[in-house]
Amino acid sequence: MNSQDFIKIENEFGAHNYHPIDVVIEKAEGVWVWDVEGKKYLDFLSAYSAVNQGHRHPKIYDALVKQAGKVSLTSRAFRNDVLPLLYKKLNQMTGYEKFLPMNTGAEAVETAIKTARKWGYKVKGLKENTAEIIVATDNFHGRTTTVISFSNDPDAYKNYGPYTPGFKLAKYGDIEDFKANITNNTAAIMIEPIQGEAGIIPPPAGFLKQIAELCKENNCLFICDEIQSGLGRSGKLFAHYYEDVRPDVVIVGKALGGGYYPVSGVLADSAILDVFEPGSHGSTFGGNPLAAAVAIASLEVIEEEKLPEKSFEQGKYFVEKLNEIKSPLFKEVRGAGLWIGLELTCTARPFTEGLKNEGLLCKETHVHTIRFAPPLIITKEEIDWAIEKIKRVFDTVKPID
Ligand SMILES: Cc1ncc(COP(=O)(O)O)c(C=O)c1O
Repeated sequence: MNSQDFIKIENEFGAHNYHPIDVVIEKAEGVWVWDVEGKKYLDFLSAYSAVNQGHRHPKIYDALVKQAGKVSLTSRAFRNDVLPLLYKKLNQMTGYEKFLPMNTGAEAVETAIKTARKWGYKVKGLKENTAEIIVATDNFHGRTTTVISFSNDPDAYKNYGPYTPGFKLAKYGDIEDFKANITNNTAAIMIEPIQGEAGIIPPPAGFLKQIAELCKENNCLFICDEIQSGLGRSGKLFAHYYEDVRPDVVIVGKALGGGYYPVSGVLADSAILDVFEPGSHGSTFGGNPLAAAVAIASLEVIEEEKLPEKSFEQGKYFVEKLNEIKSPLFKEVRGAGLWIGLELTCTARPFTEGLKNEGLLCKETHVHTIRFAPPLIITKEEIDWAIEKIKRVFDTVKPID
C-alpha cells in the first residue's frame, strides 16, 4: 500500500478531529522520519515536544524492552519495584518532594485542578464548592470536558457544554487583570509559562514572578503547566527557571515518556500533595512499572545528554539563521530554546505543506504561526539543512491571506 491508500482508509474509517499534513510515517530514528515510499524528512515538531530525546532513543528503548520482559502493569492495588525509583529521580532532578503519576497531559492537568480544589478546602479552609481557579486567556491545557470549560477558543469548547464552573479567565501577561480576578475563594492560578498552542507566546518579563508573588500574598497555589514547555524544550529544564520562581505545583507530561509511552503527572511538596487520601484519586495505568521505567530513562537522557543546554544553544543558532532569511512574510520570530514560533503576515498552511514537500515536517498553530520544535538532539548541520529548506520555500511558495 502507498501513502494515498493509507490516507484514504484513515479518512474513511477515522474521526476527523485532526487536519494532519499528508505524510504517512513508517519509521523514525533520531531527528529523522521516513514515509511509506521511503522519502526522508527532518522532524521539526517532535510530536508536540513529546520526543525531545529524539525518535527511538536507544537508552529509552532498552529500558522499555527490559521492563516489558519483567512486568508491565500491576495497577496501584499492588506496589511495583520501579515507581519508587521514578519518584526519587524526579525529586533529585526537580527538588519537589512528591509526584502523583498519570498518563496523558490532560489527566495531569485534571489532577492539578483536583489538587488545588482539595487544598483549597482542606488547607485554606474554603467553604465547600466555592473554590475558584484563575486561568489565562488563550490557554491550552488539554481536551477534557473540564479543561475545555475554561478555554476561550471556540474550536476547543463549542458544542461541548454544559461547562464545568469554578474558573475565571484573566488576560495572559496582564498582572493587573489577574489581581482583579482574585477573591477570597481563589484556590490557584494556573498558567503555561510560555503559551504553546496559542503560538509559542512568552509572557512579558517579570510576569511569572508577579504571579508567584500574587499567589503568595493571597494564599493560593501557583500551578505551572510545563507539559509542553518543560523537560528541556525551552532551553532550561523548566521554562519557569527563566524567572527564578518556584511554582507550588508543576505539571509534566509529553517528553517524560520519551516518545514511547504516555507518562504524566503532578509535582509538588508534601504539604500540598498530602491532601489526597487513598481512594480520592487515581488511574489504572498511572505509575505502572513500564511507564516508570521509560520515564526514568527519559529523564536520565535529558540529564546525561544535557538536553536543556543543547536546546538553549541550538535554539539561539536557529533563531539567528532564521532572522537572516529576512522574508517580508515574517511578522515575528519568538520563543525560547528550540521552541520557536514564526508568525507570518499570511496563512501558514501553504508554507507547512511546502516545507513538507522539501522534506521538513512542521505544523502551523492557529492560522498564521509555524511552530519549529525539532528534537533537542539536533545538530548545527541539521539546522543549516533545515534553514536552506525554509529559505527555498519562502522564495517559491505563493502566500494567501
Ligand atoms: C501546555 C499543555 N497542557 C496540556 C496538554 C495536553 O496534553 P495531552 O495531549 O497529553 O493530553 C498539552 C498538549 O499539547 C499542552 O501543550
